[in-house]
Amino acid sequence: MCAADVPQVSALEAQSQFTPWSEQVFLDCLRDDYLCQVVMAGPDTLAAFMVISRVLDEAHLLNIAVASDWQRRGIARTLLADMMTALAPESRYLFLEVRAGNAPARALYEQLGFSVTGVRRGYYRCATGREDAVLMMQPLSPS
Ligand SMILES: CC(C)(COP(=O)(O)OP(=O)(O)OC[C@H]1O[C@@H](n2cnc3c(N)ncnc32)[C@H](O)[C@@H]1OP(=O)(O)O)[C@@H](O)C(=O)NCCC(=O)NCCS
Repeated sequence: MCAADVPQVSALEAQSQFTPWSEQVFLDCLRDDYLCQVVMAGPDTLAAFMVISRVLDEAHLLNIAVASDWQRRGIARTLLADMMTALAPESRYLFLEVRAGNAPARALYEQLGFSVTGVRRGYYRCATGREDAVLMMQPLSPS
């Protein structure tokens, strides 16, 4: 991802999330050297993006979205699996948080081997009030 991608990334974010990040948040992630990736389906067609931060030996999946026309083709699974390989061995764990009601994302993470490590009650805003965050983790290399 580069700054020129951010308007398209932000548009996909707005279609994908109940409380979307602003363009400035993506620009801040680029400035702070987070791992920001895009998948292009053509020169001007964004299919997916992913943002990961690293702190010491931990990596955190902060955001991932696949455009609706490109979902269910293994793009998110491939992006994440490739990134998990690339992150090891510098990062020993990959953490993430997911809305309890986000069945597609939870199925994706379970398929990739993530385990549930906890729940943050009422962490997210949603249309009907608040929704729990499920915390998940995947070891990336032997401890
Ligand atoms: C979650 C998301 C990133 C998945 O992207 P994707 O490229 O369609 O996922 P993949 O094709 O790689 O699917 C991998 C596995 O995830 C699960 N999965 C993905 N979409 C699913 C759906 N709609 N329903 C049920 N399971 C689903 C399945 O187990 C799937 O494997 P299978 O196709 O062999 O059954 C996509 O639905 C999305 O962008 N959602 C909106 C944004 C979002 O919720 N991001 C996650 C925030 S934590």
